[in-house]
Amino acid sequence: MRVALCAVIGRVMTRFDLLVVGDANPDIVLSGEVEPAFGQAERLAEDAHLTIGGSGAIAACGAARLGVRVALCAVVGDDLFGRWMREQLDARGVDVRGLVVDPGRRTGLTIVLSKPGDRAILTFPGTIADLRSATVDRRLLRETRHVHVSSYFLQRGLAPDVPALLDEAHSAGATTSVDPNWDPAENWNGGLTDVLRGTDVFLPNATEAVRIAHQEDVDRAAVSLAGLAALVVVKLGSQGALAVQGTSLVRVGAVPVEPLDTTGAGDAFDAGFLASWLAGDPLDRALAMGAVCGALSTRSLGGVDGQPTLDEARSTIAGQPAGSS
Ligand SMILES: Nc1ncnc2c1ncn2[C@@H]1O[C@H](COP(=O)(O)OP(=O)(O)OP(=O)(O)O)[C@@H](O)[C@H]1O
Ligand SMILES: [Mg+2]
Repeated sequence: MRVALCAVIGRVMTRFDLLVVGDANPDIVLSGEVEPAFGQAERLAEDAHLTIGGSGAIAACGAARLGVRVALCAVVGDDLFGRWMREQLDARGVDVRGLVVDPGRRTGLTIVLSKPGDRAILTFPGTIADLRSATVDRRLLRETRHVHVSSYFLQRGLAPDVPALLDEAHSAGATTSVDPNWDPAENWNGGLTDVLRGTDVFLPNATEAVRIAHQEDVDRAAVSLAGLAALVVVKLGSQGALAVQGTSLVRVGAVPVEPLDTTGAGDAFDAGFLASWLAGDPLDRALAMGAVCGALSTRSLGGVDGQPTLDEARSTIAGQPAGSS
């Protein structure tokens, strides 16, 4: 009773459930038979879509869609793309007071060439890696129940200070999570050991987990990483996801979908998992929420348009055959 009361008081006193610390940039997604050809050849895509991109922005939108009170800390330039991102995030219910404008830099941009089963990605980094710990609004850090660092490896400006930032979050009473995403330098460490010690939920995909842990298979990788982070959740694409906490390993199958575009499925998964975990759901339920949010996000081009509402996610889980989640 006392614990429940403290939890209720904690919720009332925090303004946000989730603070996402990371990146925000537009994505331009071209789909169809999109193999580019040089020699000034012009090829035609079937569809084109300007949408919210950046791991942090996509995760924040996924959480907002589920009804989570969410704020985003990221850097944009003083340009059309930066203003468009602010407008779009705000319209989707993400608090943007932590979105910092750097007038001397240009907002990053990603071009995704998306064909069935694969995609090629070209990114102009711009402000994507510009966030620094000092730029993270400390009022937001004190006003949230949870801090999520997205794209750790991409956040070169922030990365060295992530362990201290996670400590600060803990001192303020928040829990923490980190999604490493791909390491463009392919070193697969870069201070991550210190980061993991301050991480309550670590959210790599299978390849990232195996490379970071230097293990041959994903189960061993997850177990090994769970020796550092409190809870390790590994995203397995069309195979679903697994989690290791202490000595227990929990698996969830994928929700069957015909994916149109898998951009941002991992970030939608993070949003779904964290929404459920923060609501106090058991681990298998939180994994199922992650998997359903990841799967449904693939039904639209780009990272955000397919993200489900809480009702949609719940009814999809309820409609699944028993034993599939
Ligand atoms: N083809 C699919 N079918 C069903 N579910 C999928 C599919 N692809 C992704 N998902 C769901 O979304 C989750 C996250 O996807 P994935 O494993 O691709 O993450 P990721 O590699 O981190 O993605 P990202 O490219 O966004 O970083 C999976 O764990 C799974 O539950
Ligand atoms: Mg990912």
